Amino acid sequence: MICKAVILAAGLGTRMKSSKPKVLHSLGGRPMLTWSIQACRDAIYDDPIVVLGPEPELIKDEVGEAFTVVIQAERLGTGHALMQARKTLEGQTDLILVTHADMPLIQTETLRRLVECQEINDGPLTLLSAISKESRGFGRVMRDEQGSILGIVEEAHANEHQLGIKELNVGAYCIQADWVWENLEQLPISPKGEYYLTDLVGLAAIGGMGVKSVEVGTLDESIGINTRVHLAEAEMALQRRILDRWMEAGVTVRDPATTYVAADVQIGQDTILLPNTHLEGDAKIGTECLIGPNTIIRSSSLGNKCTILASVIEHATLENEVEVGPNAHLRRGAHLEDRVHVGNFGEIKNSRLGRGVKMGHFSYIGDATIGEDVNIGAGTITCNFDGEQKNPTEIGDGAFIGSDTMLVAPVKIGKGARTGAGSVVTKDVPDDAVAVGVPARVVRKSKNAG
Ligand code: UD1
Ligand code: CA
Repeated sequence: MICKAVILAAGLGTRMKSSKPKVLHSLGGRPMLTWSIQACRDAIYDDPIVVLGPEPELIKDEVGEAFTVVIQAERLGTGHALMQARKTLEGQTDLILVTHADMPLIQTETLRRLVECQEINDGPLTLLSAISKESRGFGRVMRDEQGSILGIVEEAHANEHQLGIKELNVGAYCIQADWVWENLEQLPISPKGEYYLTDLVGLAAIGGMGVKSVEVGTLDESIGINTRVHLAEAEMALQRRILDRWMEAGVTVRDPATTYVAADVQIGQDTILLPNTHLEGDAKIGTECLIGPNTIIRSSSLGNKCTILASVIEHATLENEVEVGPNAHLRRGAHLEDRVHVGNFGEIKNSRLGRGVKMGHFSYIGDATIGEDVNIGAGTITCNFDGEQKNPTEIGDGAFIGSDTMLVAPVKIGKGARTGAGSVVTKDVPDDAVAVGVPARVVRKSKNAG
C-alpha cells in the first residue's frame, strides 16, 4: 500500500512566548521539525509533506531536510491544516500518516506499527495513544464498555469523568486516503472556532467502522512541546536516549545528568566523557579520548587518545594524542597535529601546529604556521592584527620561542632559531639564529649553524 506522510507545523506556538517559530527551537542541536521529518521518512521511505503557516521561508531555510511544503494561510485548527494537503495528495496514495511537528520524540518504529495496524484495519483510521497519569493537556480517548473507540475529547471541553481518562491522544494517525477528504469537510466548528482533526475520530467511529489504536513504545514519545517547560523535558528525554546509545556503543559517560551530546556527534569506543562535558554540532571524537570535566567541544574533529581538560574547542581539528587544557580555547581553524600539547590559558586561532609542538602556558597563536617540535614559551603572543588586517607568522621546525616573546606579524622564525625572553620580534629571524631584545636583533648563530 502507498502511504504518504503529512506533518502539521503551521501552528503559532503562542505558548512558547517566542519570536521564533516553535518548530525551529533546538532539540538535540537540531531544529525540532527535523525530528518528525526524519521519523516519517524512515517509516514510509518517502519525503513528507509539511503544513506551514503563511511565511514558510525561514523554516524552509533552517531545516536542512527535503520535504514538500503546503501552506495553511489561516490557522483554523488541526483538521483544517490537514485539509490543505488535499490538492497535493488526492488520488496519490492509499494511506496518510499524520503527525504533529511538536511531537518530536515519536520514533520511526512506532510510526511503522501505526501504519501496519491501519493496513489491516477495515475501518478508516488508527490513532496513536499513550496511557499516562500526566495528561499534558492532551485529548482523551473515549471508549464504550466493549472497549471500542468512540472519539476524542479535548481537555478544554472534557467533563470531570472524561478528565479522569488515562488514555491520551498523542497526535499521530494513519488514515484511509479515499475516506479522509470528504469527511474532513464534515468536521464541525469547535467552540474555539477551529476545525479539530480529533473530531475525525468520532466520525470514523460512527457506524462502528472500527477505529484502532496503537500504543507508544516508550512513554517519553508522548512528550509534546507546547511550552518551554515541555522543551526542557523533551531535551532531557532525548539526551538520555542519545547517551544510552553511546554507552551501548562503548563510550563511558561518568555523569549522564550533566553531559550533553548533540544528535549529530560521533564518538569512538573507549572514550570517556567526564561531568559537564558538552559535545555540540557535528563534533567527531576518536577512540580512547578523555574529555572533561567542564569542556565544550563544538563542531570539531578529534583523533584518538586525545585528552581535553576544562577547555573550549570550536571548529578546530586535533590529530592523535593531543593534550589540551586546563582552560585553553581553540578557535576556528586551529589544527593541532599529533602529540601537540597546549597547557593552561592557551588560545589558538586559524593556525597549524606541527607534530609535538609544546605550548604550555598563557599564549596566543593566531594566523600562524608552526613546524614540528617547536617550543612556545610562556606568554608568547603572535601580534597578528595591525589594526587593519591579519598578518601571518611562520615558525620553522625545532625553533625555541623564549617566554614572553612578541611576534609582530608578518614575521618568520627560521628552523632551529631561538628568541630570548621578552624579545619583540619585528624582523625575520634566520634558521638557527638567536634573536634578543626590543626590538629583537640577531646576536649570534647557534654553533651548529652552517
Ligand atoms: C492536539 C490535539 C490533542 C492532542 C495533542 C497531542 C487537536 C484539536 N488536538 O492538541 O487531542 O492530544 O495535539 O499532540 O488536534 N497546527 C496547524 N494548524 C493549526 C493548528 C495547529 O498546523 O491551525 C499544528 C501545530 O503546529 C502543531 C499541531 O498542529 O504541530 C498540534 O497543534 P496544537 O495547537 O499544538 O494542538 P494541541 O493543543 O497540542
Ligand atoms: Ca501540541
